[in-house]
Order: sequence, then structure tokens, then C-alpha cells
Amino acid sequence: MANERDLEALLNTGVSRRKVLVSLPVLAVGASVGLTTGCGASIPSSSVVYGSPDELAVGTPQRLPGYDVFLLRTDQGVGAISGRCTHMGCGVGIAPSGGFHCGCHGSNFAADGTVTGGPAQRDLTWFAVRIEDGNIVVDPTQEVAKDTFTPLAPSSGGEVAIR
Ligand code: FES
Repeated sequence: MANERDLEALLNTGVSRRKVLVSLPVLAVGASVGLTTGCGASIPSSSVVYGSPDELAVGTPQRLPGYDVFLLRTDQGVGAISGRCTHMGCGVGIAPSGGFHCGCHGSNFAADGTVTGGPAQRDLTWFAVRIEDGNIVVDPTQEVAKDTFTPLAPSSGGEVAIR
């Protein structure tokens, strides 16, 4: 959207079409930086400690700070979902709908990583999660099946601890 406005603004200022066409690569770079929400982030190459599960809202994906990985807490436990689009690898961001959106070419994914709109054809990858000393530890070196949740430690009453 921003680059369409920029183009329109350039054309309305009387700048020649030739100058606009010369400017397109610069606009394209700016647009891709702005739309790639995971810009600069990466998938960690080894396990990362997040912290307490109590810091996660139930049902709302939350980014593992600094990485293209999202944590999802449900009544089944905690899961970790890759934030890398399965189309061409751009970073996805959390969509207003609660799922994920890739700004590069417009793919959409549900909150559990299920692809809901292309061009991506595959669901987002899930990573292994374990609980150590009460903290969530994500291991992106181990891919797991979608909907693989790690149960949280039983509360004193013996139930799975959920919010
Ligand atoms: Fe995500 Fe193309 S890289 S839609």
C-alpha cells in the first residue's frame, strides 16, 4: 500500500515517468523492509529459554523476543511455531485476526500455523518445546507435528495448569 501511495505522489508532482521508473527499485526495497515483519529476526540455531508460561496469554500467539518464532499457549500446553513463511521464507507477523500474515506476497495462516491463503502451500513449521525449571525452552533444531503442545506442570491440585 505504501509504495502505491508513493508512486501516486510521485506522478502527481509532475515527475516524469522515466524518473518514476528509475525510482522503483528504491521504493521496492523500502516496501519490502516495511512489509517483512520479521526483518532482522531469525530462527535460533539452538535452544532458547523464554521464561514462565504464566507470561503467555492463552490462545494468542506471542513472538519469542528477537526471533522468527511464536509461542502459542492453549489448554493443552505450549507450542512453538516458526515465523518464517513457507512460500519464500519472509518473516510473518501477527494478523489482526489472531493468525499470521506474510507481507511479502500476502499469505495468511491461522493461529496454529495452518495456511489459509496463498501463495504459501504449506503450514508453518512447529518446533519442540520443553519445560525446564518452570521455564519454556524452545528447540528450533527439532521440528514436530502441528499441534504438538507440551503440557504444563501439574498444579498442586494435579490438573494441568492453565490460565
Ligand atoms: Fe510469504 Fe511469499 S514469502 S507469501
